Amino acid sequence: MKHPEFPLSDELIYLNHAAVAPWPKRTSAAVIAFAEQNRDWGSHYYPDWLKKELLIRRQLRDLLNAASADDIALVKNTSEALSFVACGLPWQAGDNIVSSNEEFPSNRLPWQALSAQGVEFREADLRSAATPEDALFALVDQNTRLLTVSSIQFGSGLRMDLVRIGEFCKRHGILFCVDAIQSLGAVQFDVQACQADFAMADGHKWLFGPEGLGVFYTTPEARERLKLSQYGWHMMKDIHNYENRPWEIHPGSRRFECGSPNMLGIQALSASLSLLLETGMDTVEALVLERSDFLRQAIRNQPNLLLLSEAAPRLKSGIVVFKHRQAGNETLYRHLQQHGVVCALRGGGVRFSPHFYNSLDEIGRALAIAADCPPAD
Ligand SMILES: Cc1ncc(COP(=O)(O)O)c(C=O)c1O
Repeated sequence: MKHPEFPLSDELIYLNHAAVAPWPKRTSAAVIAFAEQNRDWGSHYYPDWLKKELLIRRQLRDLLNAASADDIALVKNTSEALSFVACGLPWQAGDNIVSSNEEFPSNRLPWQALSAQGVEFREADLRSAATPEDALFALVDQNTRLLTVSSIQFGSGLRMDLVRIGEFCKRHGILFCVDAIQSLGAVQFDVQACQADFAMADGHKWLFGPEGLGVFYTTPEARERLKLSQYGWHMMKDIHNYENRPWEIHPGSRRFECGSPNMLGIQALSASLSLLLETGMDTVEALVLERSDFLRQAIRNQPNLLLLSEAAPRLKSGIVVFKHRQAGNETLYRHLQQHGVVCALRGGGVRFSPHFYNSLDEIGRALAIAADCPPAD
């Protein structure tokens, strides 16, 4: 039986939430309603749009367990937020940044670009120590200013112990930055519990939103350390006083939003977030992990398939990567696509990333299709 919010085509089994998710029914309804309102009324209802903008900050505050909605900035995407941090901190030649060798380019390029200022980007081999966290800690020295890591690695599904990393960073006076795009909306993520200084994510993966609207979390102390690189009316404390000279910077995270908000994206993402918050992230996480557990077990039981992403019992994610023992990855991926299984080629295999609404039955059918893949086309 299909989830009422996800009337996806019968031709598809959608297991690609770690890439781009489908929109729930309520999200497409919100976008249609907003389009019709703009068509018929222009911006007449702008005060309502501002209420929605306020609401989404509160929704994101709740989702991240941020102390205040003022700690939430609405940004274009994860890459933009990571760039705000990398370009905004006052670096000195000889400083270093510790990260992992499994990061998505968005959490590598902004830091590597600092090499021109004499800042070193250190990539730990997460498999080189007893735990992935130990591998990160081994690269830290007295010149480490910041540790940046994905909460869940996009290519393997490896989930980091963020509470342990956050404690380590605080103990050593190191800033902690978390790319949370593979956690937010899939599993619980708590900026206060993990003592993150900066965290960011985009809306189009596990959050079921459209592309082009993301969240950037900063603590009040951490954001004061960021030099700003974009300027405009929307980041002023006295936002609608267009004649104010000199102007004061907004004390909250709105300082990172220089101009008009992405109102269409806000309508859509707010609707998507309402589904997750109504369902409850504890329930969503339990269902996501039940599905990835089911997948891992079914792959182990399937002689034609090889599981690549074993998960520590305490730190499971929604991402499962596997290979076919005879067919190559490209062949397997094409075969799945041809049979309507939406997934991705990642991490040396095929990545399945089911969400809470996928049925175990359809996940089982997708695996049976994978197991039946002929060795070559
Ligand atoms: C871990 C991780 N970070 C960042 C991104 C991309 O971020 P954005 O497009 O929001 O900049 C992805 C997309 O796959 C990702 O998996």
